[in-house]
Amino acid sequence: MAWIDSLSRRDFLKGASAFGVMNAAMWLGGCEGCQQQIANRPTRRNIANLAANDPVIQAYKDAVHAMQMLPTNDPRNWTNQASIHQNHCPHQNWWFLPWHRAYLLYFERICRKLSGYKDFALPYWNWTTSPAIPSVFWGDGNPLFDSTRFIGPSDLADPSWVGAPVIESILSTNNFYVFASYPATTQRQGTTYGQLESTPHNNIHGWVGGDMGAFMSPLDPVFWCHHNMLDCLWVEWNINRNNPNTNDATWLGLHFTEFCDENGQPVDVTAGITTLFPAFNYQFEPCGPTHTQNLKLQQRAALEAYLKQGAPVRLDFTQRVELKRTITAPIGRPVVSAAKIEAQTISSVLASEGKTSALLTVDGVEVPEKTEFYVRVFINKPDAGPETPISDPHYAGSFGFFQDSHEMAGMAAGATHPKFGFVVDTTPALRRLSQSGSLAGSVDVTLVPVAYEKRRAEGQRLSIDKLELGIANVK
Ligand code: C2O
Repeated sequence: MAWIDSLSRRDFLKGASAFGVMNAAMWLGGCEGCQQQIANRPTRRNIANLAANDPVIQAYKDAVHAMQMLPTNDPRNWTNQASIHQNHCPHQNWWFLPWHRAYLLYFERICRKLSGYKDFALPYWNWTTSPAIPSVFWGDGNPLFDSTRFIGPSDLADPSWVGAPVIESILSTNNFYVFASYPATTQRQGTTYGQLESTPHNNIHGWVGGDMGAFMSPLDPVFWCHHNMLDCLWVEWNINRNNPNTNDATWLGLHFTEFCDENGQPVDVTAGITTLFPAFNYQFEPCGPTHTQNLKLQQRAALEAYLKQGAPVRLDFTQRVELKRTITAPIGRPVVSAAKIEAQTISSVLASEGKTSALLTVDGVEVPEKTEFYVRVFINKPDAGPETPISDPHYAGSFGFFQDSHEMAGMAAGATHPKFGFVVDTTPALRRLSQSGSLAGSVDVTLVPVAYEKRRAEGQRLSIDKLELGIANVK
């Protein structure tokens, strides 16, 4: 079923107001004059390509300052905007990406209005190519500075979570759930983190720390540029690399009613509508480690049809092998476990051209006391430790944390994340090992909990209920 049929006409028209520059007539294809506006939609740029005095940077500073000065009864007030996140953000489920996309779109419009800069487009922080928080976010008295950060201007995000090979590997899955987090039935139900959320997303939050380490993180202006990078990678995955979003009616049909527009008026936007934003509202300077031009979707009509169609998403496990149960490990101490998987099974996954994947499922991970560490995953490297370089071909990926137990304790009712679940697609690592002829008859997995640089994670531990390697049909 095409997504558009899953929404009533009323909902659809309501959702259309999300676009601002558009009206219902043009949605229904009747507005030729609007094509120009869409073709000229603003480009969200890599902040590293902007000079410190670029009008976009100045406008962002002016807008943040203006929002900070707004009275507390104005929903566009800086703290009120962050509270929307605290009270409504979906994490660890499949609404993570569309919710934050809508959040950013309205924020961008508020910035445009309050700065008075009509061409404003929110820039993004490309941590793959610029692993330090960009210089425009530093300096006392600068509205873009947040003094609660645990890190300084010269600290670098670790390539285990933002390096080009890791991002490439995250982009290489064709499965929406593995990329974008698993299905849920309610907005704040935690299920399993997909890799975009668990790896660059969570780790940047935990590593930057301070406001960024918790659900009031939008108080730090870098939050918005961090999420914009994630949105750009979603576009890279979904549009440039031709991986369809889910067309599940539950996913498409969820209404987000907590945002406000540039005038402070409440809006109602569905997850389904957000899939069209990159076709109508903005475009990106390319942000993927390698950029794939999708010529087929250069035509707006083809792009729109493709986005509206989506695809059913499969994640059917045909085999699950338990590696280990009830794991507890101090930070720095690796956990090794092995599974017997027929060499033949692995070769058939590698030969399946993306139809099947070998997925590591990490279930029931205890919420850490503080987000001071993350976990690296190695395949067939039982002697891996914190010093093992991630350029090692056995490195499969990493996952990190966003909330800590203090925050969990204070969370609003209805937000249930008793424990975390993660997935790591081990297929790219298995492929590397197979190509170099170093894959034998069994697969073992080593988890290495590593403290963030300059953080000691003292007394903390990694605790997991169940570790499982599964073969799944993903397409
Ligand atoms: Cu809902 Cu990165 O946050």
